[in-house]
Amino acid sequence: MKRRDFIKFMAAAMAATAVGVNVTSCGESNGKKRLIFFFTGTGNSLFVAKEIGGQLISIPQALKQDELSYTADEIGIVCPLYGHTPPNQVREFLKRAKLNAPYMFVVQTYGARKCNAVEIFDALAQKEGIKFDYLTTIIMVDNFLVSHDIDEEIQMEKHIEENLAQIKADIAEQKHWMQPVTEVERQQHWERYGHDFERYSYQNPSRTFRVERDLCVGCGACTRVCPKSNWKFTNNGLEVDGDCQMCFACINNCPQKAIKLNGREANPNARWRHPKITLQELQRANHIIA
Ligand SMILES: Cc1cc2nc3c(=O)[nH]c(=O)nc-3n(C[C@H](O)[C@H](O)[C@H](O)COP(=O)(O)O)c2cc1C
Repeated sequence: MKRRDFIKFMAAAMAATAVGVNVTSCGESNGKKRLIFFFTGTGNSLFVAKEIGGQLISIPQALKQDELSYTADEIGIVCPLYGHTPPNQVREFLKRAKLNAPYMFVVQTYGARKCNAVEIFDALAQKEGIKFDYLTTIIMVDNFLVSHDIDEEIQMEKHIEENLAQIKADIAEQKHWMQPVTEVERQQHWERYGHDFERYSYQNPSRTFRVERDLCVGCGACTRVCPKSNWKFTNNGLEVDGDCQMCFACINNCPQKAIKLNGREANPNARWRHPKITLQELQRANHIIA
């Protein structure tokens, strides 16, 4: 079997088992019921959610329901930040969800500069009447391929293990705390984006991405990792359209690197998916079956 056909065959076999809502454990932690809602494009946030532990629910999957009402002893959200603000579907979730828990926490993953992300998240949540008890961030590999070379990123010491251990301990003791933000950090967000707390609102993905048709083997991984189902096979081949929140799942998870940015890439040969998260897990989290 040729390499192209093998990749296509393997992707189809993996997709066949990738359905449903992602629940990785019974959600009991020290006798408490803990729900963690997560959003992820390249696995960093799913890794963190799994490490914290609980019943994991994908936000794109949850948004398919008519009623989003949840009750537990602890409820958490784990997601990346884009331009220091939560992804669009996380904001949609905050608007629609009714979350009932005596203890609520948020962990946002980022790659280089968090600025006042916790304050922005808190403000967006409070606008919807939701008050989180614990809000923090954790630095991971930066998947923003425009300006970050993944080969360099993975060499950097970001103290992920230690930081994650601290977060896990904080949540285990139900700490009430918001990570401090400096005036410089507030200023950095303000200088770049002003009062924009919804930096990456939906935009047309065909402006951001292009396909190198010679490289595409038609495995369909992009169609299944996109939380908005924006990638489709048409008579003209693979095409992207719709509303994109810039999670970069498609470009980072294409096994052929056939998806490129329409513009500068720090390293066109380097892509990122967290090594402890499989393509299948991402598909299970993000594949919205109509
Ligand atoms: C469109 C976009 C914007 C981003 N903006 C920021 C940012 O403002 N600051 C930062 O430190 N990291 C930024 N990142 C990096 C991600 O927040 C980071 O890699 C995150 O851990 C990815 O999580 P995931 O693997 O769960 O998708 C951005 C990434 C993307 C794709």
